[in-house]
Amino acid sequence: MCGVVGYIGSKEAAPILIDGLQRLEYRGYDSAGIAVLCGGKIESSKEVGRLVNLEKMLAIHPIKGTRGIGHTRWATHGAPSQINSHPHLSSDGSISVVHNGIIENYAELREELSTKGHKFISETDTEVVPHLIEQSLKEGAKSPVEAILRTLKRLRGAYALGILFRDEPDAIYCARKGSPLIIGLGEHENFIASDVPAIINRIKKAIYLNDGEVAVLRADSVEICTIEGVAVVPEIKEISFQAEAAECAGFETFMLKEIHEQPRILRAMLEKHVSADGKIDIGSSLSPDYFRKLNRIMIVSCGTAYHAGMYGKLLLENLTGIAVETDLASEFRYRDPKIDPGTLIIPVSQSGETADTLASIRMAKEWGCRICAICNVEGSSVVRESDAVFFTNCGPEIGVASTKAYTAQLMAFALFALYVAGVRGNLTPEQIKSYLTDLQEVPDAVHYVIQKKEEIRAIGEKHHDGPSSLYLGRKFNYPTALEGALKNKEISYQHAEGYAAGEMKHGPIALINEALPVICICTKTADEVYEKMLSNIKEVEARSGRIIAVATEGDTEIAKLAGDIIYVPAVRDEFTPIVNVVGLQLLAYYAARARGTDIDKPRNLAKSVTVE
Ligand code: M6R
Repeated sequence: MCGVVGYIGSKEAAPILIDGLQRLEYRGYDSAGIAVLCGGKIESSKEVGRLVNLEKMLAIHPIKGTRGIGHTRWATHGAPSQINSHPHLSSDGSISVVHNGIIENYAELREELSTKGHKFISETDTEVVPHLIEQSLKEGAKSPVEAILRTLKRLRGAYALGILFRDEPDAIYCARKGSPLIIGLGEHENFIASDVPAIINRIKKAIYLNDGEVAVLRADSVEICTIEGVAVVPEIKEISFQAEAAECAGFETFMLKEIHEQPRILRAMLEKHVSADGKIDIGSSLSPDYFRKLNRIMIVSCGTAYHAGMYGKLLLENLTGIAVETDLASEFRYRDPKIDPGTLIIPVSQSGETADTLASIRMAKEWGCRICAICNVEGSSVVRESDAVFFTNCGPEIGVASTKAYTAQLMAFALFALYVAGVRGNLTPEQIKSYLTDLQEVPDAVHYVIQKKEEIRAIGEKHHDGPSSLYLGRKFNYPTALEGALKNKEISYQHAEGYAAGEMKHGPIALINEALPVICICTKTADEVYEKMLSNIKEVEARSGRIIAVATEGDTEIAKLAGDIIYVPAVRDEFTPIVNVVGLQLLAYYAARARGTDIDKPRNLAKSVTVE
């Protein structure tokens, strides 16, 4: 959602802020702005729409200065407009603020401040923040930090704040609670940003600000304290990925690049977690004994990560005998799920900042549960609030539509389930070896599917223009159907519905006619699932549906039924979702391309949903 950047040093701030905001574009936004300290005044520039509009404005009216803050806004309170864009100013123009998050009690604060003479010009929740800081200074706060601390104590909700004071030219300030914020450390210059990719080209070291912390950045120093004013010694982290990881690297989009990265990422995960003698190391601080005694798992996540959770449930149930449930974090947090402290909670998240997933973790911790996350982003809130983490280590995922993070989450579940099954004795060491041998084939199988992208492109282009499509799958590939449909609707804006194929007769069969593409995931299986899928396909055929099958290489039976086929290599049933979904990612990709959408930044979507 909103992106925050800040700079203090000796270089011109505006180009650095714009560059950082461009690198945050993937988070989703509808307006942008910057504020720079310029000749003893705070100068701002804000524009609705893409950053290029702001750049054009800055080309006409440049703002010169070496410290500043910037923002991309994803509208929550008030429509996208110049007035509602950040940064927002205090009444006297001396304090400028950018904000990611939501101030829940803004209405009452606004009313209170209005009675004290403050004039508000926007509809945003954020605008109360500079006014409250100004008011705190008027009421005796002796320093900007004291005024910020007093202000934060009045705020309810979530925030990552960047703050500029006209009368404190040697510092910029920031604070966080519930929304991500990092401090990038440079040579005689320092930065703030919503995440590392925003400034990855400028820094090698960063501080991940903790919730409830406030920082003062000067060109040569960073001081941090808690909301109570207690000094904090920050942990400085080396950035583990290269700037190129956040570049397009010759691909036409980040999404296409990320699809192509999948074989390498999956191989790297296997290398990292499986030793030469076939032992799985999940890097967890939870002991083998903990897993031996475990009798219930609850997986919570959103969107694509929820589909990974559905796969995790099926696999863990199959391999470990543990009772596993999965739920949307946005639903889980409002349920009364009768969880006891012995239940292991597995939150799954690419960004590690999804508000509902975090709320679920916090709730489960109150019940005394242990938390073992599957997460991609080091230093993220999910990572910091969990007892143990299985890192997917995909590098930054910039495309809004998740691809590599998903297959890495599936791989993480596969390794995790095999590890737990081994520890508990559900599988013998020989059985685990056999599974691992089959799992090792998956990266090459994924590579094979990617090599067929021109064939998949032709299918995507052929079927891209209808109003709707239906995705069907069973058992391990029911989540694949949901994920394929989600990819399609996210980036091509074609309505797409994922369904358990066995449910087709209970409703969606009414949709089928000669205009409806029905994408059937029908790879060969050792059990009856394949036969059942074939029956479903025949039912679609009988109603003249346009059948696109994802099928196993060499399957001649399916060629008699399906109009178009995405052939994938045979892999063990349990691992087919990791391979099959790649065909669907490419199908959605090329359909979206044919429809001319903005694939990396689809309309209305934000990469990480940091508000409810
Ligand atoms: O960062 P997270 O994995 O927690 O994000 C969860 C969802 O917001 C995310 O998967 C979303 O559905 C993506 N746009 C899917 O492509």
